Amino acid sequence: MRQAVAFILGGLMLAGGFSLSAVAGDPAAGRKIANMCRTCHGIDGYAAVPIAPHIGGEPQAYLEAQLMAYKTGAREHEMMSVVTASLSAQQISDVAAWYAAHEAIATLPAGIDPANAPQGCVSCHGADGISLLLDAPNLAGETNIYIDTQLKAFKRGKRYHVIMTAVAANLSDEEIRALANWYAAVELEIKPPAQ
Ligand code: HEC
Ligand code: HEC
Repeated sequence: MRQAVAFILGGLMLAGGFSLSAVAGDPAAGRKIANMCRTCHGIDGYAAVPIAPHIGGEPQAYLEAQLMAYKTGAREHEMMSVVTASLSAQQISDVAAWYAAHEAIATLPAGIDPANAPQGCVSCHGADGISLLLDAPNLAGETNIYIDTQLKAFKRGKRYHVIMTAVAANLSDEEIRALANWYAAVELEIKPPAQ
């Protein structure tokens, strides 16, 4: 039941999300800005350090919303708050467009049955961690440290989102670890856009 309600909320958020991006992003301009990001996220969005998430092939609306959240302080992180402070709304749209122009391809480990994927997550994040919503992130192949940290951030109120705060509130640390392990085990490949 709770999941059904959350799913309806997700649909509403999605509908609202379209009106948020007033300026269209330019991926070519974004590629230049991505030089500021590459030491941590790679130029193609495949993360180079374990604490940073893979962002290549994520939905544009999600990337843009997170960058704006760091910029306004709604989401806090010592590195990302500094990075986004220097970016204009246009530059945020552009760099989001660059990373969103990539394609994320997920493969479950051999012998793993997608039917065993965490039931409370698949309606939005998919069994393989490729998001089914424009305002939700891919989880495929993120490190378990990253997923663990984010779920605990929602649970403890350091990060807020109407759906995820409710989802994480009921998870024990052991459950969080198991969920993180499921999505971290997925193999992720990121393909750059055709030039
Ligand atoms: C010094 C390393 C570093 C640099 C440089 C950096 N990031 Fe990050 N980024 C991180 C870390 C670490 C996180 C996870 C932060 C958290 O826990 O909230 C993150 C999170 C993000 C997220 C949130 C992703 C999600 O799945 O929620 C986005 C989007 C992002 N970065 C984009 C960028 C862009 C675009 C740039 C360049 C303009 C950039 N980052 C530069 C380290 C970095
Ligand atoms: C109804 C849809 C929905 C369901 C169900 C759901 N999520 Fe989410 N999830 C979202 C959305 C939307 C976001 C983006 C939150 C934000 O904007 O901060 C998100 C964000 C996340 C993040 C942050 C990832 C990042 O890159 O920063 C993690 C981790 C996550 N979800 C894990 C889970 C897990 C594990 C489950 C199952 C127990 C789950 N979610 C269930 C919609 C959902």
